[in-house]
Amino acid sequence: MSSSADRIAAIILAAGKGTRMKSTLPKVMHKIAGRAMVGHVLSNLAPLAPERVAVVVAPGMDLVKREVSPAPVAIQAEQLGTGHAVRCAREALGAFAGTILILFGDTPFVSTDTLRKLVERRAAKDEPAVVVLGMRPADAGAYGRLVLDRQGNLERIVEFKEASATERAINLCNSGVMAVDGTILWTLLGLIKNDNAKGEYYLTDIVALARADGRDCAVVEAPEAELLGVNSRAELAIAETLYQDQRRMVAMEEGATLLDPRTVYFTADTKLGRDVVVGPNVVFGPGVTVADEVEIRAFCHIEGATIDRGAIIGPFARLRPGAEIGPEAHIGNFVEVKNSIIGAGAKANHLSYLGDADVGAKSNIGAGTITCNYDGFLKARTEIGAEAFIGSNSALVAPVKIGAGAIVGAGSVITRDVEADAIAVARGEQVSRAGRAKDFRAQRQKLKSSKADKK
Ligand code: UD1
Ligand code: CA
Repeated sequence: MSSSADRIAAIILAAGKGTRMKSTLPKVMHKIAGRAMVGHVLSNLAPLAPERVAVVVAPGMDLVKREVSPAPVAIQAEQLGTGHAVRCAREALGAFAGTILILFGDTPFVSTDTLRKLVERRAAKDEPAVVVLGMRPADAGAYGRLVLDRQGNLERIVEFKEASATERAINLCNSGVMAVDGTILWTLLGLIKNDNAKGEYYLTDIVALARADGRDCAVVEAPEAELLGVNSRAELAIAETLYQDQRRMVAMEEGATLLDPRTVYFTADTKLGRDVVVGPNVVFGPGVTVADEVEIRAFCHIEGATIDRGAIIGPFARLRPGAEIGPEAHIGNFVEVKNSIIGAGAKANHLSYLGDADVGAKSNIGAGTITCNYDGFLKARTEIGAEAFIGSNSALVAPVKIGAGAIVGAGSVITRDVEADAIAVARGEQVSRAGRAKDFRAQRQKLKSSKADKK
Protein backbone atom coordinates (compact mmCIF):
# COMPACT_ATOMS: atom_id res chain seq x y z
CA MET A 1 0.00 0.00 0.00
CA SER A 2 2.73 2.44 0.95
CA SER A 3 4.39 1.91 -2.40
CA SER A 4 1.48 3.58 -4.21
CA ALA A 5 0.61 6.34 -1.69
CA ASP A 6 2.77 8.85 -3.56
CA ARG A 7 0.90 8.24 -6.78
CA ILE A 8 -1.77 10.89 -7.09
CA ALA A 9 -5.20 11.39 -8.57
CA ALA A 10 -7.47 14.31 -7.75
CA ILE A 11 -11.16 15.07 -7.51
CA ILE A 12 -12.30 18.68 -7.56
CA LEU A 13 -15.78 19.41 -6.23
CA ALA A 14 -17.52 22.17 -8.11
CA ALA A 15 -21.19 21.21 -8.27
CA GLY A 16 -22.41 23.58 -5.55
CA LYS A 17 -24.79 26.25 -6.78
CA GLY A 18 -23.05 29.07 -4.99
CA THR A 19 -26.41 30.63 -4.10
CA ARG A 20 -24.80 33.46 -2.17
CA MET A 21 -22.95 34.71 -5.25
CA LYS A 22 -26.37 35.68 -6.73
CA SER A 23 -25.06 34.85 -10.19
CA THR A 24 -26.01 32.89 -13.29
CA LEU A 25 -22.34 31.98 -13.57
CA PRO A 26 -21.30 28.81 -11.69
CA LYS A 27 -19.46 29.90 -8.55
CA VAL A 28 -16.14 28.32 -9.52
CA MET A 29 -16.14 30.30 -12.79
CA HIS A 30 -15.89 33.61 -10.96
CA LYS A 31 -12.45 35.01 -11.55
CA ILE A 32 -9.58 36.01 -9.33
CA ALA A 33 -6.84 37.89 -11.18
CA GLY A 34 -8.54 37.05 -14.45
CA ARG A 35 -8.52 33.29 -13.87
CA ALA A 36 -11.56 31.21 -12.86
CA MET A 37 -11.32 29.93 -9.29
CA VAL A 38 -11.34 26.35 -10.51
CA GLY A 39 -8.48 27.31 -12.86
CA HIS A 40 -6.41 28.37 -9.83
CA VAL A 41 -7.10 25.01 -8.21
CA LEU A 42 -5.95 23.19 -11.34
CA SER A 43 -2.83 25.30 -11.78
CA ASN A 44 -1.75 24.80 -8.15
CA LEU A 45 -2.35 21.09 -8.58
CA ALA A 46 -0.53 20.74 -11.90
CA PRO A 47 3.08 20.60 -10.57
CA LEU A 48 2.15 17.45 -8.64
CA ALA A 49 1.41 15.85 -12.01
CA PRO A 50 -1.63 13.85 -10.89
CA GLU A 51 -2.19 10.78 -13.03
CA ARG A 52 -5.90 11.52 -13.24
CA VAL A 53 -8.18 14.42 -12.42
CA ALA A 54 -11.98 14.48 -12.35
CA VAL A 55 -14.12 17.54 -11.71
CA VAL A 56 -17.59 17.14 -10.24
CA VAL A 57 -20.13 19.58 -11.69
CA ALA A 58 -23.88 20.02 -11.67
CA PRO A 59 -25.94 19.46 -14.84
CA GLY A 60 -25.63 22.33 -17.30
CA MET A 61 -22.26 23.59 -16.08
CA ASP A 62 -20.77 23.53 -19.58
CA LEU A 63 -18.62 26.57 -18.84
CA VAL A 64 -16.85 24.66 -16.09
CA LYS A 65 -16.47 21.68 -18.40
CA ARG A 66 -14.74 23.90 -20.97
CA GLU A 67 -12.56 25.60 -18.35
CA VAL A 68 -11.20 22.35 -16.89
CA SER A 69 -10.78 20.53 -20.20
CA PRO A 70 -9.07 18.12 -20.87
CA ALA A 71 -9.87 16.91 -17.31
CA PRO A 72 -13.09 14.90 -17.47
CA VAL A 73 -16.15 16.06 -15.59
CA ALA A 74 -18.54 13.93 -13.58
CA ILE A 75 -22.12 15.08 -13.29
CA GLN A 76 -23.72 15.22 -9.85
CA ALA A 77 -27.42 15.35 -10.76
CA GLU A 78 -28.50 16.56 -7.33
CA GLN A 79 -26.38 18.28 -4.71
CA LEU A 80 -26.74 15.79 -1.89
CA GLY A 81 -23.55 16.74 -0.08
CA THR A 82 -19.77 16.60 -0.41
CA GLY A 83 -19.61 12.84 0.26
CA HIS A 84 -22.16 12.18 -2.48
CA ALA A 85 -20.27 14.52 -4.82
CA VAL A 86 -17.04 12.56 -4.43
CA ARG A 87 -18.89 9.33 -5.06
CA CYS A 88 -20.09 10.75 -8.38
CA ALA A 89 -16.46 10.98 -9.58
CA ARG A 90 -15.83 7.26 -9.25
CA GLU A 91 -16.44 6.35 -12.86
CA ALA A 92 -14.64 9.37 -14.31
CA LEU A 93 -11.59 8.65 -12.16
CA GLY A 94 -11.56 4.88 -12.67
CA ALA A 95 -9.90 2.39 -10.38
CA PHE A 96 -6.94 4.06 -8.69
CA ALA A 97 -4.96 2.59 -5.85
CA GLY A 98 -2.80 5.60 -4.94
CA THR A 99 -3.66 8.76 -2.99
CA ILE A 100 -6.80 10.60 -4.04
CA LEU A 101 -6.71 14.31 -3.31
CA ILE A 102 -10.09 15.92 -2.79
CA LEU A 103 -10.19 19.65 -3.49
CA PHE A 104 -12.92 22.27 -3.54
CA GLY A 105 -13.38 24.46 -6.61
CA ASP A 106 -14.24 27.43 -4.40
CA THR A 107 -11.04 27.18 -2.33
CA PRO A 108 -8.61 28.53 -4.90
CA PHE A 109 -5.40 29.26 -2.98
CA VAL A 110 -4.30 25.92 -1.54
CA SER A 111 -0.66 25.97 -2.62
CA THR A 112 1.32 23.32 -4.42
CA ASP A 113 3.60 23.04 -1.36
CA THR A 114 0.68 22.38 0.92
CA LEU A 115 -0.76 19.76 -1.41
CA ARG A 116 2.66 18.13 -1.51
CA LYS A 117 2.75 18.03 2.31
CA LEU A 118 -0.62 16.26 2.36
CA VAL A 119 0.60 13.65 -0.09
CA GLU A 120 3.87 13.19 1.83
CA ARG A 121 1.95 12.72 5.07
CA ARG A 122 -0.23 10.11 3.37
CA ALA A 123 2.87 8.27 2.19
CA ALA A 124 4.52 8.32 5.66
CA LYS A 125 5.23 5.07 7.50
CA ASP A 126 2.02 5.04 9.54
CA GLU A 127 0.00 5.30 6.31
CA PRO A 128 -2.97 7.32 7.52
CA ALA A 129 -6.08 6.45 5.53
CA VAL A 130 -7.19 10.09 5.46
CA VAL A 131 -5.04 13.22 5.81
CA VAL A 132 -7.13 16.32 6.35
CA LEU A 133 -5.91 19.84 5.66
CA GLY A 134 -6.65 21.83 8.80
CA MET A 135 -6.34 25.45 9.87
CA ARG A 136 -6.73 27.64 12.92
CA PRO A 137 -8.69 30.63 11.65
CA ALA A 138 -9.06 33.83 13.65
CA ASP A 139 -12.82 33.24 13.49
CA ALA A 140 -13.71 29.54 13.31
CA GLY A 141 -17.27 30.46 12.30
CA ALA A 142 -19.27 27.59 10.81
CA TYR A 143 -16.33 25.47 9.69
CA GLY A 144 -16.30 21.77 10.53
CA ARG A 145 -14.17 21.08 13.64
CA LEU A 146 -11.34 18.57 13.78
CA VAL A 147 -11.61 16.39 16.88
CA LEU A 148 -8.31 14.82 17.97
CA ASP A 149 -7.84 11.82 20.23
CA ARG A 150 -5.53 11.74 23.26
CA GLN A 151 -2.55 10.86 21.10
CA GLY A 152 -3.25 13.90 18.95
CA ASN A 153 -4.47 11.82 16.00
CA LEU A 154 -7.54 12.84 14.08
CA GLU A 155 -10.55 11.02 15.46
CA ARG A 156 -13.46 12.55 13.54
CA ILE A 157 -14.76 15.72 11.96
CA VAL A 158 -17.87 17.27 13.34
CA GLU A 159 -19.84 19.69 11.20
CA PHE A 160 -20.71 22.97 12.91
CA LYS A 161 -24.44 22.28 12.89
CA GLU A 162 -23.95 19.01 14.74
CA ALA A 163 -21.20 20.23 17.06
CA SER A 164 -21.70 20.46 20.84
CA ALA A 165 -20.62 23.60 22.71
CA THR A 166 -17.33 21.90 23.65
CA GLU A 167 -16.71 20.88 20.06
CA ARG A 168 -17.52 24.35 18.78
CA ALA A 169 -14.84 25.67 21.13
CA ILE A 170 -12.20 23.73 19.14
CA ASN A 171 -10.38 26.12 16.87
CA LEU A 172 -8.76 23.51 14.64
CA CYS A 173 -10.98 23.57 11.55
CA ASN A 174 -11.57 21.57 8.40
CA SER A 175 -10.52 23.32 5.19
CA GLY A 176 -12.34 20.65 3.20
CA VAL A 177 -9.24 19.45 1.38
CA MET A 178 -8.17 15.84 2.02
CA ALA A 179 -5.81 13.17 0.80
CA VAL A 180 -7.41 9.73 0.97
CA ASP A 181 -6.22 6.17 0.43
CA GLY A 182 -7.72 5.28 -2.96
CA THR A 183 -8.05 1.61 -2.01
CA ILE A 184 -10.67 2.33 0.63
CA LEU A 185 -12.21 5.69 -0.37
CA TRP A 186 -15.16 4.19 -2.23
CA THR A 187 -15.90 1.69 0.51
CA LEU A 188 -15.91 4.45 3.13
CA LEU A 189 -18.14 6.67 0.97
CA GLY A 190 -20.60 3.79 0.62
CA LEU A 191 -21.00 3.75 4.40
CA ILE A 192 -21.88 7.43 4.80
CA LYS A 193 -25.45 8.20 5.87
CA ASN A 194 -27.41 11.42 5.58
CA ASP A 195 -29.13 11.38 8.98
CA ASN A 196 -27.78 14.78 10.02
CA ALA A 197 -28.83 18.41 10.41
CA LYS A 198 -28.57 19.17 6.68
CA GLY A 199 -29.81 15.79 5.42
CA GLU A 200 -26.61 15.59 3.34
CA TYR A 201 -23.94 12.97 2.76
CA TYR A 202 -20.97 14.54 4.52
CA LEU A 203 -17.55 13.68 3.11
CA THR A 204 -16.19 14.50 6.55
CA ASP A 205 -17.76 11.32 7.94
CA ILE A 206 -15.09 9.19 6.26
CA VAL A 207 -12.66 10.03 9.06
CA ALA A 208 -14.69 8.35 11.81
CA LEU A 209 -15.49 5.49 9.42
CA ALA A 210 -11.81 4.91 8.66
CA ARG A 211 -11.03 4.95 12.39
CA ALA A 212 -13.81 2.42 13.02
CA ASP A 213 -12.08 0.25 10.41
CA GLY A 214 -8.88 0.38 12.47
CA ARG A 215 -7.06 2.93 10.29
CA ASP A 216 -5.31 6.10 11.45
CA CYS A 217 -6.15 9.59 10.22
CA ALA A 218 -3.97 12.70 10.38
CA VAL A 219 -4.04 16.47 10.07
CA VAL A 220 -1.69 18.77 8.17
CA GLU A 221 -2.07 22.45 9.01
CA ALA A 222 -1.78 25.42 6.68
CA PRO A 223 -2.34 29.17 7.11
CA GLU A 224 -5.90 30.41 6.96
CA ALA A 225 -5.18 32.78 4.06
CA GLU A 226 -4.35 29.82 1.85
CA LEU A 227 -7.50 27.94 2.73
CA LEU A 228 -9.92 30.77 2.30
CA GLY A 229 -13.17 29.71 0.63
CA VAL A 230 -15.22 32.05 -1.54
CA ASN A 231 -18.98 32.03 -1.03
CA SER A 232 -20.02 35.62 -1.77
CA ARG A 233 -18.99 38.62 -3.85
CA ALA A 234 -17.49 40.20 -0.75
CA GLU A 235 -15.32 37.14 -0.16
CA LEU A 236 -14.39 37.17 -3.84
CA ALA A 237 -13.16 40.75 -3.43
CA ILE A 238 -11.15 39.78 -0.34
CA ALA A 239 -9.63 36.88 -2.26
CA GLU A 240 -8.74 39.20 -5.15
CA THR A 241 -7.03 41.64 -2.78
CA LEU A 242 -5.03 38.89 -1.10
CA TYR A 243 -4.01 37.45 -4.44
CA GLN A 244 -2.97 40.81 -5.88
CA ASP A 245 -0.88 41.61 -2.80
CA GLN A 246 0.91 38.32 -3.09
CA ARG A 247 1.37 38.67 -6.86
CA ARG A 248 2.93 42.12 -6.40
CA MET A 249 5.40 40.66 -3.90
CA VAL A 250 6.29 37.93 -6.40
CA ALA A 251 6.86 40.51 -9.17
CA MET A 252 9.21 42.46 -6.91
CA GLU A 253 11.00 39.32 -5.72
CA GLU A 254 11.59 38.45 -9.36
CA GLY A 255 13.28 41.77 -10.02
CA ALA A 256 10.63 44.27 -11.09
CA THR A 257 10.29 47.70 -9.51
CA LEU A 258 6.71 48.70 -8.78
CA LEU A 259 6.61 52.38 -7.92
CA ASP A 260 3.28 52.06 -6.12
CA PRO A 261 2.58 48.34 -5.77
CA ARG A 262 -0.97 48.70 -4.44
CA THR A 263 -2.09 50.31 -7.69
CA VAL A 264 -0.69 47.72 -10.09
CA TYR A 265 -3.09 44.92 -11.05
CA PHE A 266 -1.94 41.58 -12.36
CA THR A 267 -3.53 38.65 -14.08
CA ALA A 268 -2.53 35.20 -12.88
CA ASP A 269 -0.50 34.63 -16.07
CA THR A 270 1.35 37.98 -16.26
CA LYS A 271 5.08 37.53 -16.93
CA LEU A 272 7.51 40.32 -16.04
CA GLY A 273 11.24 40.23 -16.70
CA ARG A 274 14.05 41.69 -14.62
CA ASP A 275 14.57 45.37 -14.12
CA VAL A 276 11.14 46.14 -15.43
CA VAL A 277 9.85 49.39 -13.93
CA VAL A 278 6.10 49.74 -13.55
CA GLY A 279 4.62 53.11 -12.68
CA PRO A 280 1.44 53.70 -10.69
CA ASN A 281 -2.00 52.58 -11.89
CA VAL A 282 -1.05 49.99 -14.44
CA VAL A 283 -3.41 47.11 -15.27
CA PHE A 284 -2.14 43.85 -16.75
CA GLY A 285 -4.94 41.87 -18.38
CA PRO A 286 -4.60 38.27 -19.55
CA GLY A 287 -1.71 37.11 -21.73
CA VAL A 288 0.97 39.73 -21.11
CA THR A 289 4.69 39.02 -21.34
CA VAL A 290 7.17 41.78 -20.57
CA ALA A 291 10.88 41.33 -21.27
CA ASP A 292 13.76 42.71 -19.20
CA GLU A 293 14.40 46.43 -18.79
CA VAL A 294 11.03 47.57 -20.05
CA GLU A 295 9.56 50.70 -18.54
CA ILE A 296 5.81 50.91 -18.21
CA ARG A 297 4.81 54.38 -17.16
CA ALA A 298 1.71 55.37 -15.21
CA PHE A 299 -1.86 54.57 -16.27
CA CYS A 300 -1.37 51.90 -18.91
CA HIS A 301 -3.86 49.14 -19.73
CA ILE A 302 -2.19 46.12 -21.29
CA GLU A 303 -3.65 42.78 -22.40
CA GLY A 304 -2.64 40.02 -24.80
CA ALA A 305 0.62 41.81 -25.54
CA THR A 306 4.31 41.03 -25.63
CA ILE A 307 6.78 43.79 -24.94
CA ASP A 308 10.40 43.29 -25.88
CA ARG A 309 13.52 44.36 -24.03
CA GLY A 310 14.02 48.03 -23.27
CA ALA A 311 10.73 49.27 -24.71
CA ILE A 312 9.00 52.25 -23.09
CA ILE A 313 5.24 52.14 -22.78
CA GLY A 314 3.01 54.99 -21.68
CA PRO A 315 2.07 56.95 -19.77
CA PHE A 316 -1.59 56.34 -20.70
CA ALA A 317 -1.01 53.70 -23.38
CA ARG A 318 -3.38 50.91 -24.28
CA LEU A 319 -2.01 47.65 -25.66
CA ARG A 320 -4.66 45.22 -26.85
CA PRO A 321 -4.46 41.57 -27.88
CA GLY A 322 -1.88 40.85 -30.56
CA ALA A 323 0.27 43.88 -29.79
CA GLU A 324 3.92 42.90 -30.18
CA ILE A 325 6.19 45.73 -29.20
CA GLY A 326 9.77 45.38 -30.40
CA PRO A 327 12.93 46.10 -28.42
CA GLU A 328 13.53 49.76 -27.53
CA ALA A 329 10.27 50.81 -29.18
CA HIS A 330 8.29 53.67 -27.63
CA ILE A 331 4.54 53.66 -27.34
CA GLY A 332 3.48 56.94 -25.79
CA ASN A 333 0.43 58.65 -24.35
CA PHE A 334 -3.01 57.88 -25.74
CA VAL A 335 -1.67 55.41 -28.25
CA GLU A 336 -3.71 52.26 -28.80
CA VAL A 337 -2.08 49.23 -30.40
CA LYS A 338 -4.06 46.15 -31.47
CA ASN A 339 -2.91 43.09 -33.42
CA SER A 340 0.17 44.93 -34.64
CA ILE A 341 3.85 44.27 -34.75
CA ILE A 342 5.92 47.29 -33.84
CA GLY A 343 9.55 46.98 -34.96
CA ALA A 344 12.69 47.59 -32.93
CA GLY A 345 13.15 51.22 -31.96
CA ALA A 346 9.96 52.39 -33.69
CA LYS A 347 8.15 55.30 -32.05
CA ALA A 348 4.49 56.14 -31.79
CA ASN A 349 4.51 58.69 -29.05
CA HIS A 350 1.20 60.50 -29.17
CA LEU A 351 -2.50 60.00 -29.82
CA SER A 352 -2.54 57.19 -32.37
CA TYR A 353 -4.40 54.04 -33.31
CA LEU A 354 -2.31 51.24 -34.75
CA GLY A 355 -4.56 48.28 -35.57
CA ASP A 356 -3.66 45.33 -37.83
CA ALA A 357 -0.38 47.00 -38.74
CA ASP A 358 3.24 46.01 -39.27
CA VAL A 359 5.42 48.92 -38.29
CA GLY A 360 9.04 48.69 -39.44
CA ALA A 361 12.08 49.19 -37.24
CA LYS A 362 12.96 52.77 -36.33
CA SER A 363 9.96 54.22 -38.09
CA ASN A 364 8.30 57.29 -36.64
CA ILE A 365 4.55 57.45 -36.34
CA GLY A 366 3.44 61.05 -35.91
CA ALA A 367 0.83 62.30 -33.47
CA GLY A 368 -2.71 61.48 -34.45
CA THR A 369 -1.86 58.78 -37.00
CA ILE A 370 -4.74 56.40 -37.54
CA THR A 371 -4.63 53.08 -39.35
CA CYS A 372 -8.11 52.78 -40.87
CA ASN A 373 -8.26 49.01 -40.60
CA TYR A 374 -11.99 48.36 -40.80
CA ASP A 375 -14.52 49.21 -43.47
CA GLY A 376 -17.52 48.13 -41.45
CA PHE A 377 -17.25 44.58 -42.77
CA LEU A 378 -13.65 43.42 -43.01
CA LYS A 379 -10.31 44.21 -41.43
CA ALA A 380 -7.24 44.95 -43.54
CA ARG A 381 -3.54 45.41 -42.78
CA THR A 382 -1.29 48.41 -42.98
CA GLU A 383 2.40 47.78 -43.66
CA ILE A 384 4.91 50.46 -42.81
CA GLY A 385 8.54 49.87 -43.80
CA ALA A 386 11.63 50.46 -41.72
CA GLU A 387 12.59 54.06 -40.98
CA ALA A 388 9.44 55.44 -42.58
CA PHE A 389 8.08 58.73 -41.27
CA ILE A 390 4.34 59.22 -40.98
CA GLY A 391 3.42 62.90 -40.54
CA SER A 392 0.98 63.92 -37.85
CA ASN A 393 -2.74 63.45 -38.29
CA SER A 394 -2.45 61.04 -41.17
CA ALA A 395 -5.04 58.40 -41.99
CA LEU A 396 -3.64 55.24 -43.56
CA VAL A 397 -6.55 53.49 -45.26
CA ALA A 398 -5.84 49.75 -45.24
CA PRO A 399 -4.95 47.66 -47.09
CA VAL A 400 -1.99 49.90 -47.80
CA LYS A 401 1.82 49.73 -47.79
CA ILE A 402 4.24 52.50 -46.97
CA GLY A 403 7.71 51.60 -48.23
CA ALA A 404 10.89 51.72 -46.17
CA GLY A 405 12.26 55.21 -45.69
CA ALA A 406 9.15 56.84 -47.19
CA ILE A 407 7.70 60.07 -45.79
CA VAL A 408 4.01 60.77 -45.52
CA GLY A 409 3.13 64.47 -45.24
CA ALA A 410 1.15 65.56 -42.20
CA GLY A 411 -2.60 65.47 -42.59
CA SER A 412 -2.54 62.98 -45.45
CA VAL A 413 -5.22 60.45 -46.20
CA ILE A 414 -3.23 57.64 -47.79
CA THR A 415 -5.29 55.23 -49.89
CA ARG A 416 -2.64 53.93 -52.29
CA ASP A 417 0.73 52.29 -51.64
CA VAL A 418 3.74 54.57 -51.21
CA GLU A 419 7.07 53.48 -52.68
CA ALA A 420 10.20 53.19 -50.60
CA ASP A 421 11.94 56.54 -50.08
CA ALA A 422 9.07 58.47 -51.75
CA ILE A 423 7.29 61.45 -50.22
CA ALA A 424 3.52 61.16 -50.36
CA VAL A 425 1.26 64.10 -49.64
CA ALA A 426 -2.48 63.64 -49.88
CA ARG A 427 -4.25 66.74 -48.61
CA GLY A 428 -5.76 69.93 -49.97
CA GLU A 429 -3.26 72.33 -51.65
CA GLN A 430 -2.59 75.42 -49.56
CA VAL A 431 -3.73 78.73 -51.04
CA SER A 432 -2.61 82.06 -49.52
CA ARG A 433 -3.90 85.48 -50.60
CA ALA A 434 -1.75 88.39 -49.45
CA GLY A 435 -3.62 91.05 -47.44
CA ARG A 436 -7.00 89.33 -47.74
CA ALA A 437 -7.47 88.90 -43.98
CA LYS A 438 -7.01 92.61 -43.37
CA ASP A 439 -9.49 93.50 -46.15
CA PHE A 440 -11.97 91.01 -44.79
CA ARG A 441 -11.86 92.48 -41.27
CA ALA A 442 -12.36 96.01 -42.56
CA GLN A 443 -15.35 94.92 -44.65
CA ARG A 444 -17.06 93.08 -41.80
CA GLN A 445 -16.48 95.91 -39.34
CA LYS A 446 -18.14 98.34 -41.76
CA LEU A 447 -21.17 96.10 -42.16
CA LYS A 448 -21.55 95.68 -38.39
CA SER A 449 -21.36 99.45 -37.74
CA SER A 450 -23.98 100.22 -40.39
CA LYS A 451 -26.38 97.74 -38.77
CA ALA A 452 -25.82 99.32 -35.33
CA ASP A 453 -26.67 102.81 -36.73
CA LYS A 454 -30.08 101.61 -37.86
CA LYS A 455 -31.17 100.56 -34.37
C1 UD1 B 1 -17.40 21.95 3.95
C2 UD1 B 1 -17.04 20.90 5.00
C3 UD1 B 1 -16.65 21.61 6.29
C4 UD1 B 1 -15.50 22.55 6.01
C5 UD1 B 1 -15.87 23.52 4.90
C6 UD1 B 1 -14.64 24.33 4.51
C7 UD1 B 1 -18.39 18.94 4.54
C8 UD1 B 1 -19.59 18.14 4.94
N1 UD1 B 1 -18.17 20.03 5.25
O1 UD1 B 1 -18.57 22.61 4.39
O2 UD1 B 1 -16.25 20.67 7.27
O3 UD1 B 1 -15.17 23.27 7.20
O4 UD1 B 1 -16.32 22.82 3.73
O5 UD1 B 1 -14.98 25.32 3.55
O6 UD1 B 1 -17.69 18.55 3.64
N2 UD1 B 1 -20.22 20.43 -3.38
C9 UD1 B 1 -20.59 19.63 -4.43
N3 UD1 B 1 -21.73 18.89 -4.30
C10 UD1 B 1 -22.51 18.92 -3.19
C11 UD1 B 1 -22.10 19.76 -2.12
C12 UD1 B 1 -20.95 20.50 -2.25
O7 UD1 B 1 -19.93 19.55 -5.46
O8 UD1 B 1 -23.51 18.20 -3.15
C13 UD1 B 1 -18.98 21.22 -3.52
C14 UD1 B 1 -19.21 22.72 -3.56
O9 UD1 B 1 -19.32 23.17 -4.89
C15 UD1 B 1 -17.95 23.25 -2.90
C16 UD1 B 1 -17.55 22.16 -1.94
O10 UD1 B 1 -18.17 20.98 -2.38
O11 UD1 B 1 -16.92 23.44 -3.84
C17 UD1 B 1 -17.91 22.46 -0.48
O12 UD1 B 1 -19.30 22.48 -0.34
P1 UD1 B 1 -20.04 23.42 0.71
O13 UD1 B 1 -21.48 23.13 0.64
O14 UD1 B 1 -19.59 24.82 0.49
O15 UD1 B 1 -19.46 22.85 2.08
P2 UD1 B 1 -19.47 23.59 3.48
O16 UD1 B 1 -20.83 23.56 4.05
O17 UD1 B 1 -18.81 24.90 3.35
CA1 CA C 1 -18.20 26.36 1.54
